[in-house]
Amino acid sequence: MRKPLVMGNWKLNGSKDMAKSLVAGLRSELSNNTACNVAIAPPVVYLDFVKHQLDGSNIILGAQDVGVNLSGAYTGEVSVEMLKDIGVTHVIIGHSERRTYHKESDEFIAKKFGVIKEAGLVPVLCIGETEAENEAGQTQAVCARQIDAVIKALGVQAFNGAVIAYEPVWAIGTGKSATPAQAQAVHKFIRDHIAKQDAKVAQQVIIQYGGSVNDKNAAELFTQPDIDGALVGGASLKADAFATIVKAAE
Ligand code: G3P
Repeated sequence: MRKPLVMGNWKLNGSKDMAKSLVAGLRSELSNNTACNVAIAPPVVYLDFVKHQLDGSNIILGAQDVGVNLSGAYTGEVSVEMLKDIGVTHVIIGHSERRTYHKESDEFIAKKFGVIKEAGLVPVLCIGETEAENEAGQTQAVCARQIDAVIKALGVQAFNGAVIAYEPVWAIGTGKSATPAQAQAVHKFIRDHIAKQDAKVAQQVIIQYGGSVNDKNAAELFTQPDIDGALVGGASLKADAFATIVKAAE
């Protein structure tokens, strides 16, 4: 039985004061024994600070990205060992904003996936099509291509214990979420695509939906059999809204 994961991606938002009050709000709204896993991914500069705000809580600390190098002359990079050192366990990679703004390729993201797995952490692989690709009927081909880059580099077993976040780019930050039926159809395709190589891995992999999830639409999305939680952007910046989404996943 898959345990859903609801993860808040704060993106480039926050401050120490905001982080303190948001975490305090979440801790007061959520019990420590939620039926789903809960994670928050603040900007990298606040990770250690937030980790201390989470002391005694079961809320998971996530990162929004990671470099591929472990140490050395790589100015500005963050290594997976450093993330692990401060208590990060889940690492978002391949977010469409990085694929777009930083030209991250499927192959480069697959390399990040391997570095995270090698460190014993959990990759949260973001995949999803643009509006143009969706309108051209390319959704399945795009998702398959993004998944296959990891399988080609690391083998299908790499998805054991990993998380996939299906985030249709046209739903991110637009207020226009995929409908439960639309999301379920793609989630089922993703799971079936992995099952062609390994049915057990496919059955176990957590597939989150992301793209304008909020406290109003989360419950209906979570009724779908292949939607195992959510990767939440804007709505994760408000403790009450994010807590409502978590409770909807339980
Ligand atoms: O990673 C989650 C994010 O891309 C979704 O953003 O604001 O549409 O929930 P938002």
